[in-house]
Amino acid sequence: MRSLIDVMDLSTQEIEELINTAEDIIANPDQYAHACDRKKLATLFFEPSTRTRMSFEAAMYELGGHVISMSEASSSSAAKGESVADTAKTVSNYVDIIAMRHPKEGAALVAANNVNIPVINAGDGGHSHPTQTLADLLTIYREKGHFNDLTIGFCGDLKFGRTVHSLAGAMARYPGVKFVLISPEELKLPSYVKKNILQPAGIPYEQTTDLEGAMDQLDILYMTRVQRERFFNEEDYLRLKDRYILTEEKLKKAPESMIVMHPLPRVNEISVAVDDDPRACYFKQVLNGKYMRMALILKLLKEAGTL
Ligand code: NCD
Repeated sequence: MRSLIDVMDLSTQEIEELINTAEDIIANPDQYAHACDRKKLATLFFEPSTRTRMSFEAAMYELGGHVISMSEASSSSAAKGESVADTAKTVSNYVDIIAMRHPKEGAALVAANNVNIPVINAGDGGHSHPTQTLADLLTIYREKGHFNDLTIGFCGDLKFGRTVHSLAGAMARYPGVKFVLISPEELKLPSYVKKNILQPAGIPYEQTTDLEGAMDQLDILYMTRVQRERFFNEEDYLRLKDRYILTEEKLKKAPESMIVMHPLPRVNEISVAVDDDPRACYFKQVLNGKYMRMALILKLLKEAGTL
C-alpha cells in the first residue's frame, strides 16, 4: 500500500505530476468537487497544529469527501496507553486514508506498516514533514517558475526544523541548486541530513551564523521558528529564540526578486511589517498547501484502488 512518509518516497516526476494536478485544481475547482464523494479521511494529530490539520480537512471537503478527526492526544485512547499501531489499525476500519502527526520520529511509518490504507505523514517529531514540502514546492514553482539553479537560504532552527529537512531533500534533486545554512552553532543542520541528502547529491552548501551577510546571494529565504517543544531545557530556548528576526531594514540587503518563505507558525522571527513586502510568500504557502494536499489525497486513493 502506497503511503507518504518522507518526501523522498516521491520521484521527481511524481512531484511534477502533483504540481500539475494542483494547478488544474486551482484552474478548475468545480471539476474536483465530487472527486472523493463518500470517501473519508481521518486526521490523527497527537501534536498541536492549526494549518496542517485544517488544510487536510479543507482539502478533503473540497474534494467532496468527509473527515473524522482526532485533534488532541489527551482526548483519545493514546492517553490510556494505546500504541500508535493499534490506534491506526482501529481507525483504518472507519476511513479510506489517514493523515497523522506525532511527536515521535517514525510514528507515521509504524502506522503505515500496520494498516492497509494510505497513511500520510503530517509531521513526525523533528524528522520530516513531506506535505509542508509539497506546499513549499508549489509556492517555489508558482513564484519562480522553476526549481533549477536556485540558491536557498535556510535560516533559524535547522536542527529540529523538520520542514527544512524535507525541503532540503526535495530541492537537492534539482541541478544547480545551492544551500546557505544560516543558524546558531547549536541549531545547525543535523549531520544525518548532510550525509544522506546533501553529500550524495553533491549540493554545494555553506554554513554561516550571519543572516544579513548571506542575504544578497539568495533567491529564496526560508525562515523557521525555533522549535521550543523539542528543546531539552528552557534556558537554551530562551537564549536562541530571537537570534534571527527578519525586518524590513534587513530585507533592504536582499534582491528584489528574492522570496521569503516560512512554514508558519511565526513567533518573532519575521516582523509583521514584512507581511506587506511583495517578497513575503508565507501566506501563499498556506493556500498552496491545501491544493497540494488535494492532489496528494487523489493520487494515493487512486493508487490504493479506492477511487
Ligand atoms: C511546521 C511544523 O509543524 O513542523 N508547521 C507546519 O506544519 N506548517 C513548522 C513549525 O511548527 O514551526
